[in-house]
Amino acid sequence: MRITLTRPDDWHLHLRDGDALRAVLPHSARQFARALIMPNLRPPVTTVAAAAEYRRRILDALPEGADFEPLMTLYLTDDTPASEIRRAADSGFVKAVKLYPAGATTHSDAGVTDLARCDAALAEMERVGMPLSVHGELTDPAIDLFDRERAFIDVVLQPLLERRPGLRVVFEHITTGEAAEFVASAGDTVAATITAHHLLYNRNALFAGGIRPHFYCLPVPKREAHRQALVRAATSGSPKFFLGTDSAPHARRAKESDCGCAGCYTALSAIELYAEAFERAGALDGLEAFASFNGADFYRLPRNAGPVTLEKRAWTPPASLPYADGGELVPLRAGEPVSWKLRA
Ligand code: NCD
Ligand code: ZN
Repeated sequence: MRITLTRPDDWHLHLRDGDALRAVLPHSARQFARALIMPNLRPPVTTVAAAAEYRRRILDALPEGADFEPLMTLYLTDDTPASEIRRAADSGFVKAVKLYPAGATTHSDAGVTDLARCDAALAEMERVGMPLSVHGELTDPAIDLFDRERAFIDVVLQPLLERRPGLRVVFEHITTGEAAEFVASAGDTVAATITAHHLLYNRNALFAGGIRPHFYCLPVPKREAHRQALVRAATSGSPKFFLGTDSAPHARRAKESDCGCAGCYTALSAIELYAEAFERAGALDGLEAFASFNGADFYRLPRNAGPVTLEKRAWTPPASLPYADGGELVPLRAGEPVSWKLRA
């Protein structure tokens, strides 16, 4: 069996920088025509000037002949001025501004401590139509880790949308039925990305026979009923849900550690993993809209031209890949078969 899709895009991707960038970029460039590049470098990408330089480094790191367009994001801080939002909108290559609640995830210490401090920037984003890409988790340590996304909806997101009803928002890497329902019933200014790993795995994967650091990511996978709700949302045909891998490489030694980093490396086999999830749901015919149309339409960009072909043919990702500083990167599904294969 084989299926053909319009070339897909990845609307949430961590590429890192330097040698790490050079190690992972070929995988995404092979899979996707475009990707929205997350700004959580050290230091974070907070200005259009820094985003332009990062974009140049990505383009310079592309393999010969690759056809891949990085779409850039700015990292929102308490001090982002409205003028930077205007510059971003005028740049043509900054496509979203990313909200990391301070302390929520990898390299988020420069993130927003209180959205009220960002109101000038948010008002400008609403005015110019610049999407806010949201890591939707409350960071209050008193809140149970598995409840942080749900709590974020009530405490932050709903009030934000009431204050700024024209603001375009992408609720990133949703992990709960509540988030899926919230997005489905919000206005058409609100959309969401869903990762392949949250469609395929529930929280049991983190503890299958022992602790499994390569399944640890943020927001952390939830119970099975939530996974099923995410599959229903992704395969519902609603244009509000689209592909965002949140592929987030960390060296093996940084994950297999007494305080392991959050992030699953899925870029190596991303579209194949999504095909598995859609096939299991009996919804392969909905994969193209989710992977190739809905995100482009939300971001008001043209859909890609040209097809990719996926074959139903099992292959096994390697146990590890070379990474920066002599390290190794363990791809999701390392050493276990993936049932679809993207044709070269
Ligand atoms: C991401 C990373 O490593 O940059 N980690 C993750 O678990 N998803 C950050 C993020 O998107 O939360
Ligand atoms: Zn991410």
